[in-house]
Amino acid sequence: MSERAQFATKIGVIAASVGSAVGLGNIWRFPYEAGAHGGGAFISIYILCVLFLGIPVMIAEFIIGRSTHKNANSAINTLVPGSKFRYVSYVGICASVMILSFYSVVAGWIVEYLFQSIIGNMTGHTTQEYSNMFNSLVGSPYRSLFWTYLFLIANFLILRKGIQKGIERISNILMPVLFVLLLVFCINSLTLPNAKEGLKFLFSPDFSQVSPSMVIGAMGQAFFSLSLGLTCLLTYASYFSDKTPLVKSATIIAVLDTCVAILAGIIIFPAVFSFGAEPTAGPKLVFEVLPNIFQQMPGGYLWAVAFFVLLFFASITSTISMSEIVITFCTEEHNMSRKKATRLNTAIALVLGTLCALSFNLLSDIKLFDKNIFDLFDYVSSNILLPAGGFILAIFVGWIMDKKIVKEQLSNHGKLNVHTMKPIIFCIRYVAPIAIALIFLYVTGLF
Ligand code: PHE
Repeated sequence: MSERAQFATKIGVIAASVGSAVGLGNIWRFPYEAGAHGGGAFISIYILCVLFLGIPVMIAEFIIGRSTHKNANSAINTLVPGSKFRYVSYVGICASVMILSFYSVVAGWIVEYLFQSIIGNMTGHTTQEYSNMFNSLVGSPYRSLFWTYLFLIANFLILRKGIQKGIERISNILMPVLFVLLLVFCINSLTLPNAKEGLKFLFSPDFSQVSPSMVIGAMGQAFFSLSLGLTCLLTYASYFSDKTPLVKSATIIAVLDTCVAILAGIIIFPAVFSFGAEPTAGPKLVFEVLPNIFQQMPGGYLWAVAFFVLLFFASITSTISMSEIVITFCTEEHNMSRKKATRLNTAIALVLGTLCALSFNLLSDIKLFDKNIFDLFDYVSSNILLPAGGFILAIFVGWIMDKKIVKEQLSNHGKLNVHTMKPIIFCIRYVAPIAIALIFLYVTGLF
């Protein structure tokens, strides 16, 4: 295999992974999942999932990727020749294609909201009018498809021109700006009339509400938000240098990602209770609530434009990372040209993305388990495929691959003194796989 590039700086590694992790998962999906599942109790379980499942699985992905500098399939085959565990790459590819499809629809909504905020439509309306605005967007097949396609074309052009590194560099600068912006919005939300109620909803857990759907939702959200289980961070880690501290990097990524999600919660819920929205509104929650927030801020016009520009960048660094799994697989395992692989990835996403965009209008009657196509893609990929992928990867690192390599990777060949080595290996071997299996059993009613 030819020499593969390595990230030039330590910050490059972490920033690209943070770029993958931070996206619509934090700002759009986290608030709606938390809202749909009662707030505080969901968040408590979510944080436990990040700590005991997310961080260990992320470290497992890093170990496989960095020890071989290869994509998931070849990496596993190198570590244990002939191992069937390499088929996890197919779970990753399925999840990645499904996520890209519905993610592009939501990212398309973001682009339309950016457009609306530029033409000044994000201020000066009533709460009801904002709600109608969203409903008319998703209700219109043409508009939804237009924005979804536009987003997928942008994703395609960036990948095809090979400028994703450039985009990642720009977003390295923009991500901290997004963080600051979120802090400002947070302070603003805390001054809203019903802020207290919102905070109470978020931070005072009522554990009597714990249900199978909440637990699997929290686990799925943790995997989705941290980009785990589909070998995305494994692929990124294959470019890490030998000096990258794996445990520290995983912890930083998980903490930053969780902070962004919690900030989004602190922004949205005080507003939900102040403007009379429904916490259980589902995927439309933030789209209905955010305009109300911008509207009552001094200089709301500029805040709205800045926010949607930044969110667009946060989304595209995430879709680049999921597309890379498919592209790397096609180019490295099937000798396809990068051009062709990029086209294939986009073509599949265009077809499936069309189904997702139409599932709010023309195809809204097509339902399985009471879920439309969009919700089904979201549910199956996040709540089933990603944790299943994480389970396989944790078992592989914990039980199948050479322990010596695991320890060498965690300690950078003995150069780092990692005090948490034992608990981390324990979590990878026992806690993560057992917890994922138990949650699956709990949800299917077998346990
Ligand atoms: N973690 C990303 C987000 O929060 C979504 C994502 C999932 C990206 C899986 C890559 C792989 O928006």
